[in-house]
Amino acid sequence: MKNKILLICTMILFSFTSCSNENEGMNNGLKIPMANAAADVTNTSFRAKWNYVSLSKTYLLDVSLSPDFATFVPNYNSKVVTDLNEVVTGLDGGTKYYYRVRAQNESQISVYSNVITVITTGSSVIPEDPTFLKVKANKLANPFFVGVAIKANQLTSGSAYDVVLKNEFSSISAEYEMKMDPISTASGVYNWSAADKIVKYGNDNGINVHGHALVWHNAVPAWLKNFKGTDAEFALEVKKYITDVVTRYAGKVKSWDVVNEAVADNGTMRSTVFLTRMGPDYVKDCFKWAREAANAAGDKDLLLFYNDYATSDNLPKQNQVYVIVDALKAASLIDGVGFQMHNTYLSPTKAQIETDINKAVAKGLKIHISELDMAMNPKGDITTFTNERNLLQKAKYKEIVKIYNALPKANKYALTVWGFKDNESWIPFNSVDLNRPWNDWPLLFDANFKIKSAHTGFLEGLD
Ligand code: G3I
Repeated sequence: MKNKILLICTMILFSFTSCSNENEGMNNGLKIPMANAAADVTNTSFRAKWNYVSLSKTYLLDVSLSPDFATFVPNYNSKVVTDLNEVVTGLDGGTKYYYRVRAQNESQISVYSNVITVITTGSSVIPEDPTFLKVKANKLANPFFVGVAIKANQLTSGSAYDVVLKNEFSSISAEYEMKMDPISTASGVYNWSAADKIVKYGNDNGINVHGHALVWHNAVPAWLKNFKGTDAEFALEVKKYITDVVTRYAGKVKSWDVVNEAVADNGTMRSTVFLTRMGPDYVKDCFKWAREAANAAGDKDLLLFYNDYATSDNLPKQNQVYVIVDALKAASLIDGVGFQMHNTYLSPTKAQIETDINKAVAKGLKIHISELDMAMNPKGDITTFTNERNLLQKAKYKEIVKIYNALPKANKYALTVWGFKDNESWIPFNSVDLNRPWNDWPLLFDANFKIKSAHTGFLEGLD
């Protein structure tokens, strides 16, 4: 009798445990996904794969450099994927990665799948040198993209720009060729060649592409400047342009400066053709059209930024920018703020930058330092780049990189420098925009592509 009772208890216990084991993978109905071996492995990417889970709608993909997923590869922390596979890009060559997935539907998320290990092929061209900016940034606890402004004609395979870009940078912005004036030559007529080349280069090489910029008063093509139609027809032209561009690059361009520099230096809304012809809601309209186009194209991940300059040391301007940002956030239309940071060694101060940026952090927005350069001769008091200014520049680059690197993970996106070499920057001998008809040395590489102390300062800012 005693044995019988023991047997029944054991059976009951077994049935409970087996039941719980059976439900182990079920989280109210969703079974554990099965992750499969990666495919299409290259030195900068691989295709993560998994099996279908019944009742699932999408999958959450994690990719990490460590099996405990203490940190994540940028953009791959619970990344929502609708397919049963995802090409993971922006990776380093000859590096071991780990991935796992969860299934989800409207009301449930499954537990994690098994973990798959994959090693990217050896980087055939480029040694993973820790003195390369993106290599060091990618090894941070909370990595972020290190970007650079480029021109399509710099992207010739094997050129010095191509090699330095693949060594040092993980994101690109078009300095000019993805603006409205080079792309739109007439209503509905587009010259896509340069923009296509830039986007293809980024996508082919696992480099993030940031779109700059959909709407900017300094990039209005003549046909639109002189548009003879009604204001309503003008607005439709802008909507069509935004829709066509965002649709063409959906899934390929990861983020857009939707509107650039809508606020004047005196803190009022800048009097542009967009404000004049579309009214004060034009900024929100542009963001709405960009979001609608991305959603219609199935690009649910596109990040929409408002981008502006010199807000940190100009409070009236800073306040008006945040009026715009708050309105966009209230309408769930904005993902981030671009702070151009065309700084000088004299201004803005560390405290001013932190105060400005932290307002966007507090709003849960991503931060893009979008056009960083550091003018060292704003008053034209030197004619050669003295070692004193060289070391000052190193300190100022280190300072701003440290500020950015200290941001919370959720607010990090990219820190982009506005060009490669000093002599190709928009700043030297600029008597039009800046009234500085003299030389300057604002970037990380000199005219001979030699690394400057500013580059070392950038690296030290990543410590
Ligand atoms: O490439 C054409 C060339 O084919 C043509 O012969 C020549 C005739 O003018 O123009 C060339 O294009 C120039 C382009 O730079 C070349 O990269 C444009 O004229 C010139 O206006 C354009 O200047 C750019 C400027 O924005 C206006 O788009 C600068 O490179 C770029 O550094 C500057 O960047 C801006 C950001 O977008 C916004 N924040 C401020 C920043 C500095 O002004």
